[in-house]
Amino acid sequence: MTKITAKAHSNIALVKYWGKKDDGLRLPANSSVAIALDEAYTLTTVDFDESYKEDEVQLLGQGFEDDEVEKVKKHLDSVRKLASIQTKAKVVSQNNFPKSAGMASSASGFAALSMAAANAAGLQLSEREMSVLARNGSGSASRSIPGGVSVWHTADDDLSSYAEQIPYPPEWDIKVLLVMAEDTSAKKVSTTEAMAMAATSPYYQGAVLEAEKNILSLREAMVSGDWKAFGKVIEDECYRLHSVCMTQTPNILYWRGVTIEVFQAMYRLRDQGVEAFFTVDAGPHVHIVCQGKDIEAVKQSLKSVGGIKTVIECGIGEGAKLVSDHLF
Ligand code: DP6
Repeated sequence: MTKITAKAHSNIALVKYWGKKDDGLRLPANSSVAIALDEAYTLTTVDFDESYKEDEVQLLGQGFEDDEVEKVKKHLDSVRKLASIQTKAKVVSQNNFPKSAGMASSASGFAALSMAAANAAGLQLSEREMSVLARNGSGSASRSIPGGVSVWHTADDDLSSYAEQIPYPPEWDIKVLLVMAEDTSAKKVSTTEAMAMAATSPYYQGAVLEAEKNILSLREAMVSGDWKAFGKVIEDECYRLHSVCMTQTPNILYWRGVTIEVFQAMYRLRDQGVEAFFTVDAGPHVHIVCQGKDIEAVKQSLKSVGGIKTVIECGIGEGAKLVSDHLF
């Protein structure tokens, strides 16, 4: 069979996914919205061939943990089932950013794996079917298939829970700065395990309802071109996710000192009239959402904050696609 390579971008959630209504199918408790990041991506090459006696799985430079290898193999099994084949595969993957530290490497990882494996197995899936396949590997990966700004729909059955692009005002010239904290050590508990405890928070049910309201407000802000209203939802969502994390059992605190220092820097910047907004996923790193015209002011404001390792400047990334340069 043919060797296939796919490229998929990471994404940052503006309205967050934190809790499933069906763990097996990875059906999210609420819909979510994300931006794909052009400068943070995964490349994955997949080759199904009779010469492989077992699946071989490698992550160049960073290495996979045993449980991650098992997840990849399980995903290959799903693809084999869809394609009615039994052939084992070799998978080689590479991220251009640190994995497992709240940087959504599972999003770009499972999106690239789904696209490469499905095509290498001879399947011809629509974007929606590909998003469903990626969701089954890792929920947030569903949104890295369409790329752009996307909404991932909650639903009660497998095929209805997928992500698709939604329009946003192009004149905003949206940029996202990934502010990487010096502490990029891998998460001790995987997002899947941490999220499985979300419902132990006394605020969980209310938080899920709030997320659905926030999707409506975010979409309204994008239709009316109201940047400040858009930013308010982004920050409310950051606090909503972390309120659930902090109050679930066991409690999870993803933030470090630098995380809060960056929040404060954005509050100061807003006092000076620069409208930039922060959000954080399951880790200490901050994503700042701003307009292209304000990017230098935002970068300047970060200079006074200690504990930042690097800042990666991103525009909006495209959807997952096939590329011709293979990793092996
Ligand atoms: C905090 O997609 O990694 O980034 O479906 O269990 O693999 P699984 O979870 P995952 O969770 C991402 C959670 C988040 C918020 C978000 O991306 O919406």
